[in-house]
Amino acid sequence: MAYIEIVGGKQLSGEVNIQGSKNAVLPILAATLLINGVTKLNHCPRILDVEHMIEILIDIGCTVTWEGSSIIVDARGLSTDIVPTDLVKKMRSSIILMGALLGRTHSAVISYPGGCTIGARPINFHLEAFKQMNVVLEEEDGLIKCVTDGIKGADIYFPSPSVGATENVILAAVLGSGKTRIFNAAREPEILELCKFLISAGAKIYGSGTGRIEIEGVTALHQTEYTAPSDRIVAGTYLAAAAGAGGDVVLRGLGCGSLYVVIQTLKRMGSRIKCYEDSISLHSDGTVRSVPEIITEPYPGFPTDMQSQIMSVLMKASGNSKIVEEIFEGRYQNVPEQARFGAQICLQDRVAHITGVPALKASEVSAGELRGGAALVIAGLMAEGKTIVKNPYHIQRGYEDICRDLRALGAQIEYKNE
Ligand code: EPZ
Repeated sequence: MAYIEIVGGKQLSGEVNIQGSKNAVLPILAATLLINGVTKLNHCPRILDVEHMIEILIDIGCTVTWEGSSIIVDARGLSTDIVPTDLVKKMRSSIILMGALLGRTHSAVISYPGGCTIGARPINFHLEAFKQMNVVLEEEDGLIKCVTDGIKGADIYFPSPSVGATENVILAAVLGSGKTRIFNAAREPEILELCKFLISAGAKIYGSGTGRIEIEGVTALHQTEYTAPSDRIVAGTYLAAAAGAGGDVVLRGLGCGSLYVVIQTLKRMGSRIKCYEDSISLHSDGTVRSVPEIITEPYPGFPTDMQSQIMSVLMKASGNSKIVEEIFEGRYQNVPEQARFGAQICLQDRVAHITGVPALKASEVSAGELRGGAALVIAGLMAEGKTIVKNPYHIQRGYEDICRDLRALGAQIEYKNE
């Protein structure tokens, strides 16, 4: 049984290159289905979710190969519109293949992705939007069968911003007829990256990165090459680790722009952060100040994907802090494991009250999901002594090699096998 062993309580020091962005690469890999040709996508992370997406692309007829950190997708061999259920269950974000398949083959058969530990994660926004775009949906035995005689542009109003639903509508609309306008679109940087990729292949998209996106359908996209950005949540995770453990670190491959609110929060908690064009430096003496309230919100608000990691740092803050998780109802699943490090965390529905302690206790804990698992690693770095984090495969879904990266920052951490 694999686990991560950490000897914590030491300050961090060093620099690390940040891997490619999981949440930018996954939708762009889906988008390669819209190109009846070859796509080269650079700066891709070798993580489980990307491997699962590649498995699906190959299963439906594409040729996919790695060249270093680049992925080459040849989508000319696309031979089916049925996405294998066992693979959808492995990675729920494969739901964004619906839009790409509808755009390319005018049909898609995919199983309900189901929820995961962080929440029910419904897909009603996606399905309602497709219906408005001339897609006929039927649901049978947990499968969603979609067919269209041609995607038609429509005005799509989302009740609240959804990253996946925004991506799915864009993917369906780029080869559709007419204009699609999305109101209350998600504004995450990964949406902007998807649109920049599609525009580089000939799509006509306006307003990406804002709450209102317009897509004018074109008849075909052409081959292209694109380089994915660095992963802002992986970077935020390592900044949080240094803020909690103390030390001096430099992250290379991105600036502060996509992490503005996280940076502001870490500064309020006592870190000194400098932003450069393509790197971020952080100094912390290891003392942490409490924060009266952090609310997770759609971009550009505080990202839900950084909530667990910040909670770990606040476990050592002098005084009381409060976090309100407004995006995923299940995102406190990991809190009991975090509390084993000695801080007091009281949960009331969406609100977490954290009372920090001067020193965390090294513990044996289990990761239950991706970001919660990363938060346990951060707590282990902050706690004097040996911490064991079990079920590290959850972390490997989104972090190429969290042990390698944190060792580059001076941590004593490694993967082990019982
Ligand atoms: C994306 O998930 C990310 N995943 C998540 O990152 C991230 O936490 C989330 O966006 C929010 O930023 C990828 O990009 C692969 P949503 P997604 O649709 O698209 C509700 C990670 O750790 N909603 O923006 O599934 C939903 O329940 C992962 O890397 C509906 O009600 O998130 C949630 O409350 C975790 N109906 C809110 O919207 C719908 O049809 C935001 O979800 C769709 C969503």
